[in-house]
Amino acid sequence: MRPEPSPPFVFPHRHLLGVAGLSAFEIEGLLAASEEAVALSRQVEKKRSTLRGRTQINLFFENSTRTQSSFEIAGKRLGADVMNMSVGASSMKKGETVLDTAATLNAMRPDIIVVRHHAAGAVALLAQKVDCSVVNAGDGAHEHPTQALLDALTIKRAKGRIEGLTVAICGDVLHSRVARSNIILLNALGARVRVVAPSTLLPEGVERLGVTAHRTMREGLAGADVVMMLRLQLERMNGSFVPSVKEYFAHFGLDAAKLAYAAPDAVVMHPGPMNRGVEIASEVADGPRSLIRDQVEMGVAVRMAVLEALSRHLPND
Ligand code: NCD
Repeated sequence: MRPEPSPPFVFPHRHLLGVAGLSAFEIEGLLAASEEAVALSRQVEKKRSTLRGRTQINLFFENSTRTQSSFEIAGKRLGADVMNMSVGASSMKKGETVLDTAATLNAMRPDIIVVRHHAAGAVALLAQKVDCSVVNAGDGAHEHPTQALLDALTIKRAKGRIEGLTVAICGDVLHSRVARSNIILLNALGARVRVVAPSTLLPEGVERLGVTAHRTMREGLAGADVVMMLRLQLERMNGSFVPSVKEYFAHFGLDAAKLAYAAPDAVVMHPGPMNRGVEIASEVADGPRSLIRDQVEMGVAVRMAVLEALSRHLPND
């Protein structure tokens, strides 16, 4: 008897607001779909028609280069009409709230809104007020689900697996939505996750997220398979979290000497934008173990997979 073909992957959610709440099966499904998008993106003809006729709005209340442009490319590769809206200081100064903006955009009948906002929870709030699918492209220090998915895809392609790997997430964990989403996702897929930072940059009770906390790079990187650096988020700091950038680099900046604590075949990642000479040295960022460019490529693929997964739940379907 022939085996039953496995049923096609169906993503059951209308929105992607975070990694929290996704099952390992759903994460694996998105990663498998992303692999197909990588192959498609490497062809001359890169377009599909999954989102033909659909309108995607990228609503960014916070600056972004790679996230916004990769959502734009992803939407266009799937055939959507993509509009970028950067809500800078201007309309916020006029007193318009997130919910007013949401109501205005909703009246234009979009099918997908991709949102980045500086306040944790703002994207989920907006999702309650619109009729279309919403993707969280980063909300305050809360979550950045597509970043965690693209990081997982990058690791999986480099290492062949995620389960059982030791991943050290280093730096400004306190202010990082990237760290939060990665911790949740990597735990769901069976990695061992460490965070490495000075005490001032670790959230209280971080161990409850399922990580071990380390205060030195020597200890935190020992034998690690993946070293994930985070940007020092100076714009979110309203106090003195680090004595000086120079001192921070001396203790927590990743250079070749500190990378030597990790496993001999360890890979290095950074979500960007990088502060060279602050959290990472150029010799490492541009070195042979760096996956930073791969992360950017995987970013487009993962966002295509996410948009495609949500396309089953779009209005009028
Ligand atoms: C991150 C972000 O904005 O959350 N960057 C990104 O999405 N590529 C990390 C950061 O800003 O440091």
